[in-house]
Amino acid sequence: MTIRPMTPDDVPAAERLSDEGFHELDVRMRRASWPPPERRSGRHSQWWTDRTLHLLRTDPGGCWVADDGSGLVGFATSLVRDTTWCLATYVVRPGLQGQGIGKALLDAALEHGRGCLHGMLAASADPKAVRRYHAAGFEMHPQMFLTGEVDRSAIPVVDKVREGTPADIDLMNSLDRQTRGAAHGPDHEILLQSWRLIVSDSTTGSGYAYLGAGHTVVLLAASNRRTAARLLWAALADAPADRPVKVSHLTAANQWAIDVGMAARLELHQEGYLGLRGMKPPTPYIHDGALL
Ligand SMILES: CC(C)(COP(=O)(O)OP(=O)(O)OC[C@H]1O[C@@H](n2cnc3c(N)ncnc32)[C@H](O)[C@@H]1OP(=O)(O)O)[C@@H](O)C(=O)NCCC(=O)NCCS
Repeated sequence: MTIRPMTPDDVPAAERLSDEGFHELDVRMRRASWPPPERRSGRHSQWWTDRTLHLLRTDPGGCWVADDGSGLVGFATSLVRDTTWCLATYVVRPGLQGQGIGKALLDAALEHGRGCLHGMLAASADPKAVRRYHAAGFEMHPQMFLTGEVDRSAIPVVDKVREGTPADIDLMNSLDRQTRGAAHGPDHEILLQSWRLIVSDSTTGSGYAYLGAGHTVVLLAASNRRTAARLLWAALADAPADRPVKVSHLTAANQWAIDVGMAARLELHQEGYLGLRGMKPPTPYIHDGALL
């Protein structure tokens, strides 16, 4: 078994391994996968591939695979932005888990963030993942999610929200620094290529949200709760009617999002953890599961 840097040629096999690992976890946790298989589009796979190739360009030292000679049996991808290290994706082949491969991969990825004061990761509910992250010094903050069909009669008039453009990148980096202590920097380029961006920038506050198919909100940051709520309402208003939405990655520090969800008559549930090292849960903020 060797632990070696990931290369672009590894990406298709890594994606298959990720699908396999998370599908097995869904079955083990008796959890419905999201988006549901019938709503899974090539877009989901494209985003995964584009994002991983992007990380290989920006953070080659943060992306590692475990190879047993016959092929990939695990991998970990990570990134450093400003003073923050983030874990993007982390999987070991089902059947080979619990034997130390994950520890070797995570140690290699953590080495990339050696000089960082802060750390972020979105942990699955897999007890093995939680054990690894706790051993690496991460505190676990339970994540909630909202789901259901939006009560369209509850949607307020949403004003002061416009389409975003690449000219908003400086503003977004400032909001990232204010809310999570680190700009997304080059990640905004790939987020802009992949998702619709909405921005609110007025005298009372600023914020942005990337809107994804099915997930509704990929990433949201704002200078105050009122602006964050306005952006979340705009996202919900944009979601397809008569189809369930899901807004993931909500921490207890973001009650404003739960207030919006309750007003929209969505259901609140729990799923996994936001793992943090050297920082408090960002707010008003909805993190991306991989770029955080
Ligand atoms: C999370 C994951 C990558 C870790 O890789 P791994 O090879 O299983 O990890 P390791 O064997 O190095 O470490 C697992 C730890 O959990 C322990 N463990 C094993 N089975 C366990 C169980 N059923 N419950 C709790 N702990 C368990 C192991 O003893 C080990 O802890 P230790 O080092 O203190 O003894 C892998 O389990 C996985 O792919 N899970 C499914 C996908 C997932 O959840 N990925 C993380 C996304 S955030």
